[in-house]
Amino acid sequence: MCGIVGYLGQKEARSILLEGLRRLEYRGYDSAGIIVLDEKNTPRYFKCRGKIKDLEEKIKGKKIEGNMGLGHTRWATHGAPNDINAHPHWDCSKSIFLVHNGIIENHKEIKKILLKRGHKFSSETDSEVIVHLVEDFLKKERNSRHNSLESAFLKTLRLLKGAYAIALMSKDYPQTILGAKRSSPLVLGIGKEEYFLASDASAILGYASGVIYLDDGEVASINPDGFSIFDLGNNIKEKEISDIENNLIKIQKSGYPHFMLKEIMEQPESLENSQRGRIILEQGMAKLGGIESVKERLREIDKLTIVGCGTAYLAGMVGEYMIEEYAGVPVEVEIGSEFRYRKPILGKNSAILAVSQSGETADTLAAVNEAKEKGILTLGLVNVVSSTIARQTDAGIYNHAGPEIGVASTKAFTSQVEILALLALFLGRQRNLSLVMGQRIAKEIKNIPNLAKKALSLAPDIKNIAKKYYKFKNFLYIGRKYNYPVALEGALKLKEISYINTQGYAGGEMKHGSIALIDKNFPCLAICPKDSVYEKIVSNIEEIKARQGRVIAITTQGNKEMKSLADDVVYIPKTLEMLTPIISVIPLQLFAYHVSVLKGLDPDKPRNLAKSVTVE
Ligand code: M6R
Repeated sequence: MCGIVGYLGQKEARSILLEGLRRLEYRGYDSAGIIVLDEKNTPRYFKCRGKIKDLEEKIKGKKIEGNMGLGHTRWATHGAPNDINAHPHWDCSKSIFLVHNGIIENHKEIKKILLKRGHKFSSETDSEVIVHLVEDFLKKERNSRHNSLESAFLKTLRLLKGAYAIALMSKDYPQTILGAKRSSPLVLGIGKEEYFLASDASAILGYASGVIYLDDGEVASINPDGFSIFDLGNNIKEKEISDIENNLIKIQKSGYPHFMLKEIMEQPESLENSQRGRIILEQGMAKLGGIESVKERLREIDKLTIVGCGTAYLAGMVGEYMIEEYAGVPVEVEIGSEFRYRKPILGKNSAILAVSQSGETADTLAAVNEAKEKGILTLGLVNVVSSTIARQTDAGIYNHAGPEIGVASTKAFTSQVEILALLALFLGRQRNLSLVMGQRIAKEIKNIPNLAKKALSLAPDIKNIAKKYYKFKNFLYIGRKYNYPVALEGALKLKEISYINTQGYAGGEMKHGSIALIDKNFPCLAICPKDSVYEKIVSNIEEIKARQGRVIAITTQGNKEMKSLADDVVYIPKTLEMLTPIISVIPLQLFAYHVSVLKGLDPDKPRNLAKSVTVE
């Protein structure tokens, strides 16, 4: 995930670009750059490894004057975070400049062809091929009457596979900036005689008065007299201009009524971002840069303790099943607030993994400090970059799920589980996990964002189910094996935002107590995908039905049997058993959200709770 910004207007581009980049820094922070075209059409460009403040330091006192330019803040996928791989990138003659967010999947093939055609590349990035392709098309058309930056850009886009949000300009076309979007966000901002491109509207808030959200396959062309939007076939598109009048919160919600719903709906993107650049399909392996430095110590560990609180703890429970099954490493999952008060048995080859969205949770942090005291390896799985847990642990993995603002954790959970799957793959391949199985897991993880999208298409059905059930005062959630933690997470989600009493149980444990609660007023959500414990949970559903309990079943697409068993059925797409929690939790998140809204509550601000719990 990177942040891009573009400006064309009457004002000095430099400060607008830098301010935009500062606001987009949450999207990427390992390198940054800007390019401004001065009045003589001389490109003035600077880029460096590090944060926006490092770029600002680098350009301090430099003359960068001009009314059009581009900016970029990077999160590396192809090529290390360094000065050269930072954006902008340029063509052989340093005429065309580009910033890009996304991944060009066919960059290797394109680069091979371009190298044969004499192009010289300076970076290791996938992005650089785009600018050379544009150069190539422009050259080819030099003597044709169709020669234009726009036409070369369109031809280039038609060849690209993968995801992109691009902003591009050329010193030979000094009054034009082009933008394009596919699977990565891009907005066009409209001000008074000025235009902007940005990864999200918050970057241009206070500058632009209107904003157009580009859709996939759309291209924007801006010049001092106006803008046009067209598709890859060069057909003009009419787009609605939304008002962005100083309403940062509304913008940040991207039109959704609540952050929670926005964050649920953006899971295909957050899951993509969490796995981006981390899967090596051919080797059936995960590439986790943040733990590279402790790779050899990880090969030796004979016990892993995962600590976390709330949702993070539950993600850790899924991790326990995965890591034990595929890596054969014994795992213990512990609630942060309990860890330090018991006497954990930690040998010299033990490691602790702290899972925390915020990276600031006091109980989880205390567990990390306790583990440090004992001298064992400490790892973090943290979403907020440079947070305390991220800094205090020996090594770690960032989620890159983007900021989570809703108090109820949603996209952080699915991202945590996805990364724990990558960790299981990594540890497994260091041990006995076969190449073939590794490749299978890697392939399935790669497909998870697509499956999340399919699960989200169930949103209207879930809303209808919520309408049927929101007045009930109690709910039971059951699941087994990988979906036992999902039952707990579903129960937690509903109780924290709707104040309904919920219980999460392992299906097989129900008969040891909680089944006494079941009657027609105590509905149950059963997470029962077609997996290795399917028959077992069907028995549990039957036990509930025999006691007049109502059942909402979350099962795998194509499972016809469930219709006759449960009162309501939600069908989720099939994936590997270990990965089902990422998909099966989505209907539960949506259910909790809709119940809360139907009850007239604000799911973003549940009573008595805070997003980051920094007290014991
Ligand atoms: O920031 P953390 O992941 O460490 O937070 C841990 C819990 O406080 C958090 O997951 C909490 O349970 C959520 N509100 C659940 O939705």
